[in-house]
Amino acid sequence: MLASAADIALRGRNFLRVSDLSPLEIGMVLAVASHLKGGRGADQLPLLRGRTLGMLFEKPSLRTRVSFEVAMTQLGGHAMIAQGQDFLVGSRETPEDAARVLSRYVDAIVVRTHAHEPLERFAAAATVPVINGLSQTAHPCQALADLITVKERFGTLTGLRLAYLGDARNNVAASLAEAAMMCGISVTFGCPPSHRPSEAFLAHVQRLGKPHGATVRAFTSAVRAARDVDVVYTDVWTSMGEEHLAERNVAALLPYSVTPELMAAAAKHALFMHCLPAHRGEEVSAAVIDGKQSVVFDQAENRLHAQKALLVALLTDLRGIPV
Ligand code: CP
Repeated sequence: MLASAADIALRGRNFLRVSDLSPLEIGMVLAVASHLKGGRGADQLPLLRGRTLGMLFEKPSLRTRVSFEVAMTQLGGHAMIAQGQDFLVGSRETPEDAARVLSRYVDAIVVRTHAHEPLERFAAAATVPVINGLSQTAHPCQALADLITVKERFGTLTGLRLAYLGDARNNVAASLAEAAMMCGISVTFGCPPSHRPSEAFLAHVQRLGKPHGATVRAFTSAVRAARDVDVVYTDVWTSMGEEHLAERNVAALLPYSVTPELMAAAAKHALFMHCLPAHRGEEVSAAVIDGKQSVVFDQAENRLHAQKALLVALLTDLRGIPV
């Protein structure tokens, strides 16, 4: 049974990696998200009335930026964005100085940045909650939305199997694997040796999954990774800021493209998931992403609900929310 909100205090915390939360805390955020998703709009306006979210984006974004801004509006608060030259972590001033200044203006801060280490420094100096809106090594908000989407479809998380195909070292794969393993979903990666997660990372997620009976394995065979799984997940082959590697990535990752033939190796009821934006004809066929098994737009919608829950959990004591 889920502990009460009073037992799990997220108020004032940062969210830089999925594993910053315990499995119980993840469960609570998912429960709050489900409650808010099913609720009536006007009832939610008092939850963050008068609060301001600062959004600092060094990289482009559609889903993350808009869903956080809408989340604050629906919760009665306000969001502002600084991007491009206005905010580059550590370029005009140290991450620590920027964090101390912004903490005097806003109630929480979302940062989308390149390297993860300056984000850690920024968060350590901030006196308000800092949320990772994507860094080189993690995309934890995406992973929360992915868990909600899987749970909505299967009614449970524990005991499921998920395959991630393609660049298994990227930020989406890393956060997804942490989230899945912490919730009892076993993970297989299908990737070439050049894009395989490090042994240290595999050992890290195996430790996270062990108490929940989840396992992790990496295969060079895409079919072997996808065999009988409940969820097939992929992402673009070249992450933002690594465009110079695009040609090399296409050559290495072509055998890991999610095609109807690869989906046939998964369980009949398997879902196809992708964090978007997607490149049809590269990491996924149009027939798959636009087909019946695809839940990519539910994932995108659930970014909003996951982030509303996260904001309420980090900024309030969850009073009045039945979780
Ligand atoms: N999935 C995701 O983070 O999308 P954006 O890059 O558009 O925010």
